[in-house]
Amino acid sequence: MQTDPLKPGYNFDAHLVAGLTSIIEGNDLDFIIDRPSGMKGYILNLTIKGEGRIFSGDKAFDVKEGDLLLFPPGIAHYYRRHPNCSNWFHRWVYFRPRAFWSDWLQWHDNKNGVFMTPSLDDDVISGLEPLFIDIEHSAKSDNPYHGDLALNLLEQLLIRCKTLQPGVMGRRIDPRILEVIHYMSQNLSRDFSNDELAATVCISSSRLGHLFRAEMGMTITQWRDDQRISRAKQLLVTTNHSINKISRIIGYSDPLYFSRVFKRIAGVSPKNYRDQIT
Ligand code: FCB
Repeated sequence: MQTDPLKPGYNFDAHLVAGLTSIIEGNDLDFIIDRPSGMKGYILNLTIKGEGRIFSGDKAFDVKEGDLLLFPPGIAHYYRRHPNCSNWFHRWVYFRPRAFWSDWLQWHDNKNGVFMTPSLDDDVISGLEPLFIDIEHSAKSDNPYHGDLALNLLEQLLIRCKTLQPGVMGRRIDPRILEVIHYMSQNLSRDFSNDELAATVCISSSRLGHLFRAEMGMTITQWRDDQRISRAKQLLVTTNHSINKISRIIGYSDPLYFSRVFKRIAGVSPKNYRDQIT
């Protein structure tokens, strides 16, 4: 079994893996990264030195220092050191996103399915690169909260990347959606209907559904489940409550349903999550 994520054959079955790929002409990393069906998760890729070439033939484009890429799941990977440059160093983070991140993962420019934010200034790079490094270190550390810490740093990184997109700085979230979010946060453990939510901001529930999706990039249920699972994670590591009890506290009357949602969002069952940390 391959244990080095820089080498072919590594099984990216985790929710977050990060690293630095230092390709120098002729070294053991100087090969084409070729994953025709892409990956299950996203990859952020920042060139810090040298040049790389993404894709081949008509689809090919090149990246240089300060170019930032985001590969969505399922997009083919085919990249390597640029043939005319002796090296290509890139930092990367592979991750399976949480539902409420989806807005951060829509960037402005897309080249053959890969989002690209080119030519970052030095001061922007010096804000982003330490996050890549910290994510890598915390993902590997033995801090019992290393997973949460790495995800938290990744959230910062994704928010910064999103903020770099043209047009983002002028955007304001619709105040009705902010109000609904506030209402749901205060009532997370309760079941509420879309009609009830819509009534709090005096619009129809179908209008609310559309507006929520447009503003937040996900459905109301996805947002609520994400929030509930975050709370469940806290309770799993900070209390001795049984899983059934936690399921009830966060608002799922059926613990089996809770375990299914938890596994989908967190990647492991509630029990394994607790065992990993405690
Ligand atoms: C490494 C590659 C890097 C990225 C991660 C997911 O092996 O060097 O570019 O694709 O895998």
